[in-house]
Amino acid sequence: MEISTYLPFLILLLLGLSFVGNSLEQINGGLFPDGFLFGTASSSYQFEGAILEDGKSLSNWDIFSHKPGNIKSGENGDIADDQYHLYMDDIELMHSLGVNSYRFSISWARILPEVVLDPSEFCQTEGINLQFSDGNSTTGIQPFVTLNHYDIPQVLEDRYGSWQSSQMQEEFVYFAEICFRELGDRVKLWATFNEPNVVAKYGYLMGTYPPGRCSAPFGNCSDGNSEIEPFVAAHNIILSHAKAVYNYRKHYQSKQGGHIGIAVHAVMYEPLKEEEADQKAAERALAFFVAWFLDPFFHGDYPSEMRRILGHRLPIFSSEESKKLKHGLDFIGVNHYTVLYAKDCMYSPCDSGGHLIEGFVQSTGERDGVPIGERTSIPTFFIVPNGMEKMIKYLVTRYNNTTMFVTENGFAQLDQPGDSGSELLNDFKRVEYHKSYLASLQRAIREGADVRGYFVWSLLDNFEWRYGFTRRFGLYYVDYRTLMRTPKFSATWYKEFLANYSITNEEAIKWNSSK
Ligand SMILES: *[C@@H]1O[C@H](CO)[C@@H](O)[C@H](O)[C@H]1NC(C)=O
Ligand SMILES: *[C@@H]1O[C@H](CO)[C@@H](O)[C@H](O)[C@H]1NC(C)=O
Ligand SMILES: *[C@@H]1O[C@H](CO)[C@@H](O)[C@H](O)[C@H]1NC(C)=O
Ligand SMILES: *[C@@H]1O[C@H](CO)[C@@H](O)[C@H](O)[C@H]1NC(C)=O
Ligand SMILES: *[C@@H]1O[C@H](CO)[C@@H](O)[C@H](O)[C@H]1NC(C)=O
Repeated sequence: MEISTYLPFLILLLLGLSFVGNSLEQINGGLFPDGFLFGTASSSYQFEGAILEDGKSLSNWDIFSHKPGNIKSGENGDIADDQYHLYMDDIELMHSLGVNSYRFSISWARILPEVVLDPSEFCQTEGINLQFSDGNSTTGIQPFVTLNHYDIPQVLEDRYGSWQSSQMQEEFVYFAEICFRELGDRVKLWATFNEPNVVAKYGYLMGTYPPGRCSAPFGNCSDGNSEIEPFVAAHNIILSHAKAVYNYRKHYQSKQGGHIGIAVHAVMYEPLKEEEADQKAAERALAFFVAWFLDPFFHGDYPSEMRRILGHRLPIFSSEESKKLKHGLDFIGVNHYTVLYAKDCMYSPCDSGGHLIEGFVQSTGERDGVPIGERTSIPTFFIVPNGMEKMIKYLVTRYNNTTMFVTENGFAQLDQPGDSGSELLNDFKRVEYHKSYLASLQRAIREGADVRGYFVWSLLDNFEWRYGFTRRFGLYYVDYRTLMRTPKFSATWYKEFLANYSITNEEAIKWNSSK
């Protein structure tokens, strides 16, 4: 079996990041803590392209995006930003921006195209023995690596029904092990999963992400069971995380000196009306969407709010699993974009929505027809800057001031036919968005939250899942015919912001060793 040339690619990418460009400014204190990471984020399927190159097998997203009707615009990530070939150009963009970190994810279908659990098969691979020549240099751009950002080998879907099966736990641990072993001398920050709460909800409850499973009234799928499968998928993902972390702690962490966590989609919820029922509903909404994937790593079980309502529908952790779950992360990755209202459906039933499996909560972006914040081109993303501060404070309180990174925050422009490129380049709204969210984050930090980084989603315009290329999140505009990258106004702003506050860190993150 071949493991493709992907590991050498990743190693070259990491080496490129460690190159110290000459545009980096020196530290002069500033509004964020010393060693704070400022970066941009990306993911393999949304950026890499090179769908079948160097032995990569098809991923679930390759299959899903090619099925007519799944992606509104009919587009797919076959080429995307072609970062697989243009990564050196992108590293140069990052050095010129002056960021000190880059968050990206690893394509599982490139690392293990055929998914065979036999370590003897990949040890021989040529190129894998590339050694880093520059030791533990912490200058340059610190990599922040997500092991799994939605895309999994389709083979696993076909063989096991992916996250429906507990077999996935061993598959994930094996994949993670390769990454720790081969890249851990350079990568000190790992997130196991990106937004597993979105994977479970969109993949198995609404059926709008692969594997596209659901049942009525939650979605329109040919197969699935929305009342059971999201919780089974979540359970297997949570245990996959816990086992990979356990393995990392046991065999790699002390040797490599890294840290590991998970990145959740952190929607903040506020009561629709200032009454107790809706306040409780907002708390339930947070538990059912955010704490669902975090409580287990602190308490060894799902949120009590979920247990109370879901009862036997929620899978059980054995006492041994429970033990492994606790201390299951070093940091929380916070992907924050929006705030929604929560309306109670427990004390007074709602006409539609707010089902038991949703915690008897209906979420909405409007109160009496007035949106909670300015609308954006993503229907559930409203601009509510103080949501950042509230979200961070919720996590500080619920998780005893655990270390956090804002692993995503960003603004999407709509790319309408007929829009001129220059309109998209003058993205003043994006700059306002980041300024106000950063100010909100700064307030949370000033009040004691232990936040150590902020990643703009995203470096480049890229393949925005169901929206294809019609939503543009990049600091750089990508012309998808030529793949040319052009800085938007926001790229210029970020560069100046970083130079002003001068975030270059000599020592990377100063971790409190007791954490
Ligand atoms: C790199 O880090 C490891 C573990 O922290 C340490 O043992 C080793 O000496 C370091 N190497 C260099 C070149 O600094
Ligand atoms: C459900 O999906 C089927 C097949 O894709 C389609 O024909 C039908 O119109 C859809 N129904 C609704 C209510 O969207
Ligand atoms: C919270 O964190 C502090 C400091 O890290 C620790 O001393 C304390 O025991 C923790 N409390 C809980 C309930 O975990
Ligand atoms: C949270 O932890 C950080 C870093 O350890 C510390 O500086 C801060 O005072 C703590 N905040 C609270 C609210 O305990
Ligand atoms: C950089 O600092 C200058 C001088 O304090 C200020 O006028 C400018 O607005 C700052 N730029 C950014 C992007 O923060």
